[in-house]
Amino acid sequence: MNTVTVVGAGHVGATLAQRIAEKELARRVVLVDIVEGIPQGKGLDLWESAPIEGFDTRVLGANDYAAAKDCELFLVTAGVARKPGMSRDDLVKTNAAIIESVCEEIKQASPNAMIMMISNPLDVMCWVAKEVTGFPPERVFGMAGVLDTARYRSFIAMELNVSVEDIQAMVLGGHGDSMVPLVSYTTVSGIPVTQLMNSEKLDAIVERTRKGGGEIVSYLKTGSAYYAPSAAAAQMAESIIKDKKRVLPCAAWLTGQYGLNGLYCGVPCKLGAGGVEEIIEVELTDEERTALENSSEVVKKTMEAVTL
Ligand code: 2OP
Repeated sequence: MNTVTVVGAGHVGATLAQRIAEKELARRVVLVDIVEGIPQGKGLDLWESAPIEGFDTRVLGANDYAAAKDCELFLVTAGVARKPGMSRDDLVKTNAAIIESVCEEIKQASPNAMIMMISNPLDVMCWVAKEVTGFPPERVFGMAGVLDTARYRSFIAMELNVSVEDIQAMVLGGHGDSMVPLVSYTTVSGIPVTQLMNSEKLDAIVERTRKGGGEIVSYLKTGSAYYAPSAAAAQMAESIIKDKKRVLPCAAWLTGQYGLNGLYCGVPCKLGAGGVEEIIEVELTDEERTALENSSEVVKKTMEAVTL
């Protein structure tokens, strides 16, 4: 890929630009932010690490989208982050206005681009991006399920004292406290997790996963997580750029899948060169289906707070 543009040069954006550059996923990474000097400074600093880290992806920072002209993939992290005590939904009005103006710029600069949304409240910001750009839904999707699943996997690995690499799992639903970790699809090298852990421990892990973002916010106090979110976004970007067709939980536009319609919500997707190439419908237990429906109601309620 020629150009990946990261919008927003805060902790998530800058760390994400670093991950894309260090993995050499594109020829150029453009870091865009409205604050003068920050994207230029972080971009130059990152590029100056290239001789040591050994990557040739050029990194440059800018305050406008000229450098992002005809960019193929935008990773949008712009917006304000949560402070302790705030829910992701508390950010909705402020971030909707920011995402609206970012997406107008993207549409102008690169009408054929794909947009991966990372800003919160995630599912609603995906919808704002789709509405503002008019891009087809396979080109507008969101990062959340990979992050939520990574948290869930990391907690299971800690509890069982096994490699994180051997935990397969999937967290669906909206990116909020109503998210739905699928216990019935959680395995350790193919062994159902329910054979290795009692339900009390598993319930506690599910609950910790749901509150995983808030746990980091409560430690950091002045912002939210960025190492795991940027790793999750980079994994999705890699699947698109290399056309790997990985099956990952992503926020995708639903038109009847899982009985849900007219909203973004986390579901298993095949991610490739075409973006969201397929939404995969899996069987759910009654409890999981109800939890997914509840989660979608939370997303719909937050959508009502936004006028486009
Ligand atoms: C998180 O879950 C910030 O939503 C992000 O950490």
